Amino acid sequence: MSEYERNERLSEPDNPAIETQSETFHRIHFDIFTLFPSMFVGPFGESIIKRAIERALISICLHNIRDYTTDRHHVCDDTPYGGGGGMIMKPEPVVRAVETVLMRPAGWSLPPEDAYINLPEWNPDAPAPLPPDTPIILLTPQGRLLNQSLVVELARYRRLALICGRYEGVDERVRQIATDEISIGDYVLSGGELAAMVIVDAVTRLLPGALGYELGAHQDSHSPGLGGLLEGPQYTRPHTFRGESVPSVLVSGHHANIERWRREQALLRTLHRRPDLLAKAPLTEADIAFLRLHGWMPPPQPAPHREQINSTIIE
Ligand code: ADE
Repeated sequence: MSEYERNERLSEPDNPAIETQSETFHRIHFDIFTLFPSMFVGPFGESIIKRAIERALISICLHNIRDYTTDRHHVCDDTPYGGGGGMIMKPEPVVRAVETVLMRPAGWSLPPEDAYINLPEWNPDAPAPLPPDTPIILLTPQGRLLNQSLVVELARYRRLALICGRYEGVDERVRQIATDEISIGDYVLSGGELAAMVIVDAVTRLLPGALGYELGAHQDSHSPGLGGLLEGPQYTRPHTFRGESVPSVLVSGHHANIERWRREQALLRTLHRRPDLLAKAPLTEADIAFLRLHGWMPPPQPAPHREQINSTIIE
């Protein structure tokens, strides 16, 4: 396989993750549309993502948007109407790439020798029928903010399409094919590629078997297993490092005490670093009592709506 092909296809079309998609919910195929497929080779070729691909938990096809241009210079961007600086991604190559790929089974990608010159037929004037169960996500700083519950939501799908915008933006008409827009934070990246990597990573680590230990991501910070709290401190050997020893409860062998300590440490860490998360966390009476001891005041409950007050009076 040539270097080009290796870069374009981190997973083969006959990857069992694709053939067996209907069997289990936890096999996901990612179609990533980008002008810079080689940006993904390093991050996807290491560690958890690499293992998840080898174990067929996920499969990834990188689609080079430029392959879907038909002009002599393979132009993907142009100056903005109305003037102003910067370049805007043209709609045709992106939309052509997304429609061509998503009309075909997961795992299909354009044979490299067909790029530019032997593209499948495509109608620029009419939208292609796209699979209704595949989110088509445009990565943009204008999208809804990624958080762990959105990651959990995305992990329920079998196939996800991620469109990486570049330059100063994408032509507004690309939004016609996007079913969702996601931002990974209130800052501007040079393109959606890093955001796509973040999504692939965060989704993949939720899949059973991806982390290689039983509980997986269940107790991660922000995860539902921890009620959306931050995870508390963790220790490994050596027992003492630079004069600081591991808390004695962790070496006590008393599992109930260890669990309670961990819960309290998660509560404390969240209180000190992200008190906003406590308002949404499902807290027990014991949690609330512990937090109050450390100075936390539960946020006031919103006043009941007038209709609720009335109905209470009538009852
Ligand atoms: N593209 C540029 N900035 C981005 C962001 N913050 N999130 C997602 N995609 C982006």
